[in-house]
Amino acid sequence: VTYHPLSLLRYAKRVQRDPVQRIAERFDRYGDLYRAPFLGRDVYVLRHPAHIQDVLVTQAQRFEKPSAGLMARQLRRLLGEGLLNSNGELWRRQRRLIQPAFRKESLRAYAPLIVEHTCRVLEGLHDGQQIDVAQTMMRLTLRIVSKALFELELDGEVERFGQAMAAFRAAFSRLGAALPDWLPSPAQRRALRALADVDAVVYSVIDSPRMRSGHHLLSALLGGVESGGMVGAGQRKQLRDELVTLFIAGHETTANALTFTWHLLAQHPEVEAKLHAELDQVLAGRVPDVNDLPRLVYAEQVLSEAMRLYPPAYVLPRVCVEEAWVGGYRIPKDADVIVRIYHTHHDARWFAEPERFDPERFSHDNRRRIPPCAYLPFGAGSRLCIGKNFAMLEALLILACTAQQFSLRAVPGARLGLDMALTLAPKDGLAMRLERRPSRADFTLRSQLAT
Ligand code: HEM
Repeated sequence: VTYHPLSLLRYAKRVQRDPVQRIAERFDRYGDLYRAPFLGRDVYVLRHPAHIQDVLVTQAQRFEKPSAGLMARQLRRLLGEGLLNSNGELWRRQRRLIQPAFRKESLRAYAPLIVEHTCRVLEGLHDGQQIDVAQTMMRLTLRIVSKALFELELDGEVERFGQAMAAFRAAFSRLGAALPDWLPSPAQRRALRALADVDAVVYSVIDSPRMRSGHHLLSALLGGVESGGMVGAGQRKQLRDELVTLFIAGHETTANALTFTWHLLAQHPEVEAKLHAELDQVLAGRVPDVNDLPRLVYAEQVLSEAMRLYPPAYVLPRVCVEEAWVGGYRIPKDADVIVRIYHTHHDARWFAEPERFDPERFSHDNRRRIPPCAYLPFGAGSRLCIGKNFAMLEALLILACTAQQFSLRAVPGARLGLDMALTLAPKDGLAMRLERRPSRADFTLRSQLAT
């Protein structure tokens, strides 16, 4: 694909209006892998599972996290050299330091905390109330990740951090944010202001006494940067980058996955009824705990299918650091590569009737038939999401606690829009109405009356 400068602007606007459709048209026209130079960079876009396997797994050493290009530049501004963005020795060292916080036994310990925070939110909700479910999920997951990973009760700070992130996201999705740094636009100025707010919260955490109070992850990170020989500003900056990465990667995606799940459940009462039946049978009115999870089989299928239709990390960007051959095509050194997970997940070759919401695709038997790298909401290969098990544990517990007590109903006129900026998110939130489900006591009473 090549562009005339004017048609590039026109195309950029069309993509911004309907990214899913525009990219799908490209794939239909050019095939599974196409080259589309963009603002002076060579960009290869792909969606075929075999090609994805090459880039993320088999030839992963030839593809690194990028630092140039539109999305990468913005991501670096926000996350710096944190775990999501770093490469080489720095990445390996930091991954080793952070990994223990995500071990199985650490995760089991987070479960009661997740349930407690969820119940606290639910206690403040009532039948008939209308909420912005996207915002509610976002606040909840930010609180949980702050407490679980860093033992922080970020109450006022959660609000500030959440608002700064929302402002950054809003500015980021404007075309103006794509302009080079030397050509400032109002959107860029807003993004920079939001970034300063994010930094203010994170540096206040870094400078607080709790940073050195013996907490395992914080002290591991601190020890790690010290042994890496960084001091002063460099050390603070690396810590800032890891904290911002874990705060952001650790809450946005999970919150979005849950919001999409609530939306889909409201549209599919038969799925919701089956989910409720499982929850009522497995939990019998109890608050869930970690031992219930293996039996919440259908709930997990629901989440997996929601993340197929709406993968929160909808693209994976890479840069080719050594010439590679993928699916018979040459990818030159320094070219950008974009893995379009969203389009892989919506491809009828791997998922029949791909637009249909059908959790049965993830039943034990059906799941095994999905080709490798055709379903990858958490990525693949060595850069697989470090928080995958944490996210599934958290999402399952939030789903179970909430669906046990409430049905979330669509609000007439409220539409789900898609914002495809840093992550795939509901555009302008999502209003839903709460309907309290009859409690177990009501069920028992009703069945006694019926007999
Ligand atoms: C539903 C929730 C989540 C989804 C869909 C998701 C998705 C992903 C994906 C696709 C990647 C790979 C990116 C790439 O290859 O370019 C990734 C990486 C990462 N995720 Fe997640 N994630 C989720 C939850 C979490 C949570 C809860 C945490 C932390 C608490 C987390 C922290 C990270 C980090 C630090 C990386 C970078 C890992 C590395 O490169 O070594 N994520 N995530």
